[in-house]
Amino acid sequence: MFFSQFRLCHVVALVLATSCNVTWAKEQVPLNTKHNSPQPLRQYSWVRSFASIGDSYAAGLGAGNRIDWSCSRYDHSYPSLLNSNGFLGENPNRTHQYLACSGATSEEVLVKQASALDDDLDVITVSAGGNDVGLSIIMNQCIYQFFMSKTDACEDALNETWSKIENDLSGNLTALLDVLKPKLNKGHGKIYYTGYARFFATDDEICDNVTWAVWSYESQSAKQFLTLERRKIMNDMVQAVNKKIEEAVHKAGDQVIFVDYDSFVAENKGRFCEAGVIEPDPNRNGLCFYEWKTVDTGDNSTALHHAGDDVPKGSFESDIVEWTNKTLQEHPDWKFGPDEEVELDADKKGGRQVIGDTVSWLLPDFWKRVFHLRPAGHLLIAHLLMSKLAETASKISASETVEGYASRDD
Ligand SMILES: *[C@@H]1O[C@H](CO)[C@@H](O)[C@H](O)[C@H]1NC(C)=O
Ligand SMILES: *[C@@H]1O[C@H](CO)[C@@H](O)[C@H](O)[C@H]1NC(C)=O
Ligand SMILES: *[C@@H]1O[C@H](CO)[C@@H](O)[C@H](O)[C@H]1NC(C)=O
Ligand SMILES: *[C@@H]1O[C@H](CO)[C@@H](O)[C@H](O)[C@H]1NC(C)=O
Ligand SMILES: *[C@@H]1O[C@H](CO)[C@@H](O)[C@H](O)[C@H]1NC(C)=O
Ligand SMILES: *[C@@H]1O[C@H](CO)[C@@H](O)[C@H](O)[C@H]1NC(C)=O
Repeated sequence: MFFSQFRLCHVVALVLATSCNVTWAKEQVPLNTKHNSPQPLRQYSWVRSFASIGDSYAAGLGAGNRIDWSCSRYDHSYPSLLNSNGFLGENPNRTHQYLACSGATSEEVLVKQASALDDDLDVITVSAGGNDVGLSIIMNQCIYQFFMSKTDACEDALNETWSKIENDLSGNLTALLDVLKPKLNKGHGKIYYTGYARFFATDDEICDNVTWAVWSYESQSAKQFLTLERRKIMNDMVQAVNKKIEEAVHKAGDQVIFVDYDSFVAENKGRFCEAGVIEPDPNRNGLCFYEWKTVDTGDNSTALHHAGDDVPKGSFESDIVEWTNKTLQEHPDWKFGPDEEVELDADKKGGRQVIGDTVSWLLPDFWKRVFHLRPAGHLLIAHLLMSKLAETASKISASETVEGYASRDD
């Protein structure tokens, strides 16, 4: 089952690659042809100690099968894809430390993940910064309104995020990179820092009358709409975060490389509210992010309609539950879901909600991963990373001889 899903993903990647009129698609990135190649290609064989750290974008929240409980890591995340046969290839000499954890801020990545890294790493992939500036709070206040304290809560949240981007983010990113650089192999080690992608298309006003507010009982005037102006502001924020990452990467020197996939998502029409799309359209071909009710090929759609397992306290998912729960405490008669069709899990609405490190997940499972990348989005990043790794290889093989290269050249 894994392999049929995997091949399907490559088909998606090919579609993405051909609809993207860009150079990385034409490079020597192995697509499905190299799928079962047991030997890593020469330009990737230098990657023997490999680590992936960061937040839910690096954990791949929601993409494929969950392979870890407390951090919500998934098997179609870009780190998982890279470490698989279709990408870096099988190499018994390669180690992969996969420490990314959903919900982590850059400070948590520094304290909990960076400290656990091996020394002398060839490659570290990182995704961090989005949680520092509260992107999930904006998703709550300006889009879904799982809990809304007052009518200008969205504006407050946007202001708060702008201030964090301007004042705190750079320092935090540099602090993280300063700790990561000494973990690299001194000769050829590299850090690949992945950014974020703008969530919304802004070509027309067709989404202006769309609200994704989850409580139908909420007064119409209190609901947030996906207006063109709002979409542009939220996009600007993502770009501002990317810009800060790019600057921090530049400042950190040539051991660190920024991996910017934002324009590919845009060019592929992979965002919400693309021109002519009447939202919600969660299963639209080419949509790169999860919308509520998105079902990927290979997903169990029955399971996605039911409340699944408990979720880790402090995670993205538990924020959603706690916001929802707070609204229910104030308005026990309110129904969840735009069409009031969602029966919240009655057992879990009661007392038994927080036990140790877990929070009961009382919503249908497809809410868990909204605004995260679908497998096609992770594929895009994995392909982009492969081309960056190949670029790095062409530089290091000119300046450095690494033992064992020749024997593994196929
Ligand atoms: C793994 O390392 C051993 C010892 O250095 C070497 O002989 C072998 O060729 C390597 N195998 C691969 C697939 O790189
Ligand atoms: C947000 O910032 C804008 C511009 O700085 C300001 O005019 C507005 O009053 C702020 N809104 C809130 C709710 O603080
Ligand atoms: C992140 O920035 C905030 C605000 O400047 C600061 O309090 C915090 O210590 C920073 N964290 C790191 C790891 O630099
Ligand atoms: C918004 O407007 C479009 C046409 O402009 C219409 O097709 C769609 O049903 C409307 N959506 C809502 C939620 O009213
Ligand atoms: C899908 O999920 C349902 C409900 O959780 C379960 O009963 C069923 O066995 C699952 N099907 C597959 C193919 O895993
Ligand atoms: C929901 O709120 C109630 C009352 O405040 C509390 O006892 C319960 O633990 C909360 N559950 C969650 C998941 O926050």
